[in-house]
Amino acid sequence: MFAERPLTGASACSLHQTRGGDPDAGRASGESTGAGHTWRVTTISDGVITLRPPREDDIDAIHAACQDPEIQRWTALPSPYHRDDAVSYAERVATERESGRTASFVCVDDKGRMLGSFAVMEMDKAPRYGEIGYWVAAEARRRGVASRAVALLRDWAAAELGLQLIELIIHPDNAPSRRVAERTGFRETSELRPAPRREDPGPPNHAVYAWRAA
Ligand SMILES: CC(C)(COP(=O)(O)OP(=O)(O)OC[C@H]1O[C@@H](n2cnc3c(N)ncnc32)[C@H](O)[C@@H]1OP(=O)(O)O)[C@@H](O)C(=O)NCCC(=O)NCCS
Repeated sequence: MFAERPLTGASACSLHQTRGGDPDAGRASGESTGAGHTWRVTTISDGVITLRPPREDDIDAIHAACQDPEIQRWTALPSPYHRDDAVSYAERVATERESGRTASFVCVDDKGRMLGSFAVMEMDKAPRYGEIGYWVAAEARRRGVASRAVALLRDWAAAELGLQLIELIIHPDNAPSRRVAERTGFRETSELRPAPRREDPGPPNHAVYAWRAA
């Protein structure tokens, strides 16, 4: 879920962060401060997939991927999803990074093709707290992309942002997303919440999966 209006790995994946010196490391915007954390905008890779900051030239690929009904069904993205929504998303990424609220990434393969979108959100809600949201482009699904990316982002957020509690908020009928949560070490809690970041959040029927730093 690029989860905003908002637009907003498997444990076996090793965390490799590209920092310093690498021109693709996405550090142009420098450091971001928020929720008590300071971090460098960075690129994260496990050697198979790469998470990097969204760029203006991603807009068409994001717009195309977000036409998928499953993405519109399970995330807080606008529906219908227009090109302007992708443009607003790209603009909002920088603002929310500066405020420390959200760390947003696109996920690409070794040829730079767009696979999906992953973000740590809601970091202004509580100290050392974040919620991960995601979508994977329809043609890239069932290859372990979401599992790899969630594990990478989880470990990065704990190591670099100091997050201690990370949640995934998932509709009970979203079996693939629940499976991603289970594969990446998130435990289902007994809590149910309304759909996050929606104009009409509906009843509290979304499962809350939690992961805590050791
Ligand atoms: C949920 C989503 C991100 C999963 O992405 P993905 O890259 O296909 O996930 P993975 O390949 O890592 O698969 C994770 C697990 O889900 C299972 N899975 C994936 N798609 C599935 C499907 N359609 N039906 C049943 N199981 C499915 C996989 O088999 C795997 O389980 P396994 O380890 O038992 O084999 C993707 O389906 C998606 O973008 N859906 C629309 C947006 C969305 O739901 N976002 C999350 C909102 S909370």
